[in-house]
Amino acid sequence: KRITINQIYKKCNLINKIINIYGWIKNRRHSKSGISFIDIYDGSCSNIIQGIVKKNIINYNEVLKLTIGCSVNIIGVLILSHGKNQKYEIKINTIKVLGWIDSPNEYPISSKNNTLEFLRSIPHLRPRTNLIGSITRIRNNIFYSIHNFLQKKNYFWIPTPIITSLNSEGAGSMFHVSTLNKNQDNKDNNIHFIKKNFFGKKTFLTVSGQLTAEAYACAMTKVYTFGPTFRAENSNTTRHLSEFWMLEIEEAFSTLTDIIKLSNNIIKYIIKNILKNCNLELEFLYNKIDKNIFLRLENFLNSKITIIEYNDAIKILLKSKTYFKNSINFGIDLCSEHEKYLVNNYFNAPIFVINYPKNLKAFYMRLNNDHNTVAAMDFLVPNIGEIIGGSEREERKNFLKKRIVDLGLNKKDYLWYIDLRRYGSVPHSGFGLGFERLVSFITGIKNVKDVAPFPRTVNNVLC
Ligand code: 4AD
Ligand code: MG
Repeated sequence: KRITINQIYKKCNLINKIINIYGWIKNRRHSKSGISFIDIYDGSCSNIIQGIVKKNIINYNEVLKLTIGCSVNIIGVLILSHGKNQKYEIKINTIKVLGWIDSPNEYPISSKNNTLEFLRSIPHLRPRTNLIGSITRIRNNIFYSIHNFLQKKNYFWIPTPIITSLNSEGAGSMFHVSTLNKNQDNKDNNIHFIKKNFFGKKTFLTVSGQLTAEAYACAMTKVYTFGPTFRAENSNTTRHLSEFWMLEIEEAFSTLTDIIKLSNNIIKYIIKNILKNCNLELEFLYNKIDKNIFLRLENFLNSKITIIEYNDAIKILLKSKTYFKNSINFGIDLCSEHEKYLVNNYFNAPIFVINYPKNLKAFYMRLNNDHNTVAAMDFLVPNIGEIIGGSEREERKNFLKKRIVDLGLNKKDYLWYIDLRRYGSVPHSGFGLGFERLVSFITGIKNVKDVAPFPRTVNNVLC
């Protein structure tokens, strides 16, 4: 019966049993005495399993030709290993080579020392490394934990549209969606493509599912949406992608304080699960990438909620203004440099910054009584800065309409959204969590391009 390497490590009653595994060669050594050692991985966990092949096996000449990356099926007896790098090994009875490597000298993955920068240039092959494999298993666990947490708490998942006519964040640039229809010109017989607005008006790839999630929250109370979102910003940084996944929770009858608690709880829940389920992966990352990984995660779990007003954040930054490239004053948006200073240098802990000036934030955020700031929060974590952005939503029809007009938005586009305030309006709040930034925070991998399977960034779409 076929078994994965993960199952071998989890079950302890397989010693001396015949086992059958499928995988790829990670490494191989051939001794002069006619024994070969081959390390096999199958992606199920960070462990490899070592196979021992003796030269009396029928196809030993094939074994001698194996190179890194070949795919194999092996059958043999599982025994305890004396080697210090692995607990088990397999005395191989049969080995079948399923796929050879064309020109092994050109195979881009080596058994060690593949830099992250280099791996970015081969996104289709990099999942074969233990590093990307470990990140992938952690990401999978985070994804599962998010749904688990919310389902247990009776939130309903809403798939919100990818194609939209609204720019909910007032984002500087969006991806335009149009159709290209083939057209044969009768005169010159040439084929032309005609670009059209398929939906009769300009449409875009969504920057956020929030506004449509609000429609559901205003009927079902607790909802979330979790899917890809798109920003055509020209930001080539370690924390920006043109296509990223966002978890957006929207809840009726809830306040800023409620969503602050919820943000904190969900991330703690995710981290607890990672510590419980992904220990091998974390250990691998500890050895290869980040000696602080366990400390950082434990610190987060032990952290208390710290909330500071935007104005107080600016005061702190003003006191250290020589530290920053650009000048600091009340009204500036916090950039990554400011955010990292606050969490890494000043508080040395995650923080929520609240009550930003309304001019820095989107039209839908609820105006505070000072008429100058909005009931918004950004959650900043060490090394990354903003990981979550959220707010109370403006539920008062007249305030909302005024904001739409003041910002020069086209009121017609928002009539349906204003309807939510005309018919049984409720106070409600919500937030968006950047999935890749969270994966980056948890794994200690600094660049989101290394945690997104096929990153899309400015001037860069491979695969
Ligand atoms: O702060 P943002 O732009 O908020 C919204 O889109 C709201 N509609 C969310 C809501 O309240 N439902 O984005 C939310 C989060 C950010 O905090 C950040 O973690 C992530 O999404 N994010 C990005 N991640 C990667 N690449 C980008 N270009 C990102 N832009 C935002
Ligand atoms: Mg934001």
